[in-house]
Parts: sequence; structure tokens; C-alpha cells
Amino acid sequence: MGKKGREIVGVDIKELLKDLNSAYADEWIAFFYYNWAADFIEGPDYPTVASELDRIAKDEFEHMSELADRIFELGGEPERDLEDLQKIANCKKVVFPKNERDLEGVLNAVAEAEGCAIDVYNKLLKKVAACYDKDVRTFHLIEHILSEEIQHEEAFENLLEKKRK
Ligand SMILES: [Fe+2]
Ligand SMILES: [Fe+2]
Repeated sequence: MGKKGREIVGVDIKELLKDLNSAYADEWIAFFYYNWAADFIEGPDYPTVASELDRIAKDEFEHMSELADRIFELGGEPERDLEDLQKIANCKKVVFPKNERDLEGVLNAVAEAEGCAIDVYNKLLKKVAACYDKDVRTFHLIEHILSEEIQHEEAFENLLEKKRK
């Protein structure tokens, strides 16, 4: 980001960069696990669930790159060390069932992961909302990501409900 663009950000940039980097790590982790799960699952309902996992993984990838753009704009750098990426993440792990046909187990795990993301972005949104007029760009980015995480949770829960019927 240019000098003026950075100047107008009236929040503690160091703290903001730390929060954005943790969220950046969360997005990589979600992207990894959702892709992994899409390849892992088997059974008659697998195509629907796999295509939803693939679709949502693409959103997580997009979130990751939007956060990276904002981190660079603010004069920071997205985490470059893969091991540290997991250390700084808020939502570090998604634990899947052993059985590739246990789609309910897989859907529960990803719905829970979305719950973690919603918590993270909701807290972050409150933080950036407190100084909305000082960093409007980050506010709108976090608002956009939060609303997509809410849709993701809903999508996974809808699939779960269909499975239970
Ligand atoms: Fe995301
Ligand atoms: Fe998500």
C-alpha cells in the first residue's frame, strides 16, 4: 500500500497484521483439509459432498489471497514458513473419521471448522468495527469473509441434515 494509504489506517497496524496473519493461516489450513477430504471420501453420496468441499475450498483459497493482499498493503508480509503457519493459526486442525464412507463424520468436522472461522472473524470484525472510520478497507474485507463463512457452515449443515433423513 502507498504511504498515504497506510497513514490513514488509525489502528495498531502491528496488532492488526498479527490478527490478519493468523486468519491467513486459518484459510490455508481449511483449504488443505477440505481438498484432502474431497479426495478421501467414498460412498453413494460422495459426489455431492465432494463437489461442495471443492467449491468451499476455492472460497477459502480466495480468502487467503485477499488477506495476503491486505497484509502486503499494510506493509506486512504473509507468513512464509509452513511450520509457523500452523503455530499462528486460530483453527489449527480438522480431525476426520477413519472411515472414508463416514460422510456424516466428515461433514461434522468441516461444519465445526466453519464454526471456528465464524468465531475468529466475528471477533476480528468487532475489533475493526471499533475503528471503522480509521480502516474501512479491512472492515469490509473481514465483513465479506465472515458472511461467506456463515454460508459455508450453513451449506455443510444442510448436507448433514439431508444425510440424517
Ligand atoms: Fe475462509
Ligand atoms: Fe469457510
